[in-house]
Amino acid sequence: MPTYELLLAPSANRVYADQTPRLAAAEAAVVGGWTMRPHRLAGLSCLGFEAAAVDPAALSRLSAGLALFEAVPDPAAPDQTVPDLSNPDQALPDPADLDQVLLRPLPWPALGPVEEDLVTIPKYAGKTNEQFTQLLLNVTLSQVRAAGPVTVLDPMCGRGTTLTTAWRLGWDAAGVEVESSAVEALAAFLKTYLRRKRLKHRAELNPVRRDGRNLGKRLEVEAQFGDQTRHLAVFSGDTRQSAVLWGKRRFQAVVVDAPYGVVHGSRSGPGSGRQRSAGQLLAEAVPVWSRQLAPGGALGLSWNSLGLPRADLIELVQQAGLTACQGGPWELFGHRVDSSIYRDIVVATKPLELT
Ligand SMILES: C[S@@+](CC[C@H](N)C(=O)[O-])C[C@H]1O[C@@H](n2cnc3c(N)ncnc32)[C@H](O)[C@@H]1O
Repeated sequence: MPTYELLLAPSANRVYADQTPRLAAAEAAVVGGWTMRPHRLAGLSCLGFEAAAVDPAALSRLSAGLALFEAVPDPAAPDQTVPDLSNPDQALPDPADLDQVLLRPLPWPALGPVEEDLVTIPKYAGKTNEQFTQLLLNVTLSQVRAAGPVTVLDPMCGRGTTLTTAWRLGWDAAGVEVESSAVEALAAFLKTYLRRKRLKHRAELNPVRRDGRNLGKRLEVEAQFGDQTRHLAVFSGDTRQSAVLWGKRRFQAVVVDAPYGVVHGSRSGPGSGRQRSAGQLLAEAVPVWSRQLAPGGALGLSWNSLGLPRADLIELVQQAGLTACQGGPWELFGHRVDSSIYRDIVVATKPLELT
């Protein structure tokens, strides 16, 4: 069977970069059922795998991929065997074996039409790593069984990394964020970006009033990228009020990078100060998010497992009527961010048919 090499993109974040090959291999297993094996080739991080055929368009959606090569025997080499790089049980290939192959570049389609700089330009404390955000979206969306167009809700969306990455991947986006200054910053950025790029758009930030009370703000954006239209809507407010803010609307995916209790303390509501652990907030929010999922939808959650053990979070999502994906690659997403944060992922699905 042909052997391929997926070259991994260098990450700007050194700590994340160290763990990228393992995370990328787990992502590939979940998203495409590919068995890929991290290794280094000429000093560069790669995933080696065997496949009867490859779909470069599908592979180029992986969060950490940079380029794709087919490993072909080097006609100048004495031994014509191509090493099996995908077999995790096999010992690391002898560097001499790799001298026996040549790498033939394959097409690497760009994700479009929404450009990468929409996600990478904003820089701020507490921003979720962009590669990791794409991974979280990919593994969550791989479990969505709901038919029809997808809108991704990030109910703790900060300044919108999940939302703009969802746009890049082809989906509409919705959000809730307790800090209204973050919603204002997202509105200002999107307006400037879309104007500078001369993209046809409509963007409005308006106060939300119900029963004579001021509930916060609502950002509404529609933008045209080539022949594709993307929508985004964000409420400022507490995530536990998300179902009140969104009413009957249901989402095919809820994807959230929860506060770690460090840069972003979890907040019990506007003006209520910070808590060390997001555990209490998640216990109250997960049932709300579960109700907002369409049948066949999926929740993808990343959080600091030093504050709330994985088993406890899995119990929380199961109590909320969801089924957590467990075993195999699902257990391999945990990674150290710093001495006080060990970030992990849980993805859980809502049944297609409600019993
Ligand atoms: C880890 S950050 C997410 C950052 C976001 N992914 C980004 O890149 O901008 C967690 C976010 O949750 C928000 N948050 C904390 N408590 C909240 C609550 N009760 N309701 C809504 N948002 C909350 C914080 O203000 C912060 O923006």
